Amino acid sequence: MNDKNNKINIWIDCDPGIDDAVALAMTAASRDALHLLGVSTVAGNQTSDRVTGNALKLTAFFGMDDVPVVRGARGPLVRPVEPAEDIHGADGLGNCALPETGKNVTSESGIFYMYTRMMALPDGERVTLVPTGPLTNIALLLRTFPEVKKKIARIVLMGGSSSGGNVTPAAEFNIWADPEAAQMVFAAGLPIVMCGLDVTLKSGLYGSQIETLCRSSRRAERACGQMLRFYLDATRHEGEEDMVAIHDAVTILYLTNPELFGGRNVTVNVDCDWGAERGRTICTDESNRQSVYLLDQVNLPEFQRILLAKLKSL
Ligand code: BDR
Ligand code: CA
Repeated sequence: MNDKNNKINIWIDCDPGIDDAVALAMTAASRDALHLLGVSTVAGNQTSDRVTGNALKLTAFFGMDDVPVVRGARGPLVRPVEPAEDIHGADGLGNCALPETGKNVTSESGIFYMYTRMMALPDGERVTLVPTGPLTNIALLLRTFPEVKKKIARIVLMGGSSSGGNVTPAAEFNIWADPEAAQMVFAAGLPIVMCGLDVTLKSGLYGSQIETLCRSSRRAERACGQMLRFYLDATRHEGEEDMVAIHDAVTILYLTNPELFGGRNVTVNVDCDWGAERGRTICTDESNRQSVYLLDQVNLPEFQRILLAKLKSL
């Protein structure tokens, strides 16, 4: 699975987003294990302009100035963008004022840049795609440049659920935001690890831990604390009362610490009808075929210990 210098090549496709921000922080703190080739943005938690601005600020803030940020799809394949302002704030980052940056997008044509960067990997090296937003860019990449599949080791994504949803009773936000794209990705024949609500609602920080972050003298810890305080207040109905699920960070911690998680093999189909079930991930247990590895267990104390230690290291 490892590539150059024994690190895993990854590409993050995101819509920051408070928990996307923590996933980026985890990536910055995992340089010994992960080689981040680039970051693409997709409209989801906020508009393309906002999430792209946030990705630029966040990569700079977490010391990843050298990492290219490219702009992807301005909206889902079929339906309009419906930002999750109530959950992530008007700015997408819980109204946490991050420093401005002079950094600019490397390319306005996100999927073309992704394609050329991935195809330029040396023979024998591949990339793990890490989508933490709607799957629009990934679907367009695979549909436009199917030959890129040979350079993709697997997809470790945040999205979906084998039971209920968080944006509707049936659907999880990232899949609900672009069900057609999600169906294309699940049907692409690539190995997928699904970090959906089955595991992410069990993977979070308690209010007291967030308050400690807010009081930190280190700016990265403090900023994450401020964002997560907003997120906790906005999502109190999800999962445990005083714990905020840090959905997107599960993808990165799974890559660096797979021993923290357990799961099962399933096949996934996405409900793309326009009824109440739209965006549901229909998961069928498949003990014999390895198609999607659905995470459903986490060692929470270890998850919290590692996440907090990595934030402190920034
Ligand atoms: C997912 O939806 C978004 O709001 C979060 O950033 C995360 O990717 C959780 O359902
Ligand atoms: Ca996200």
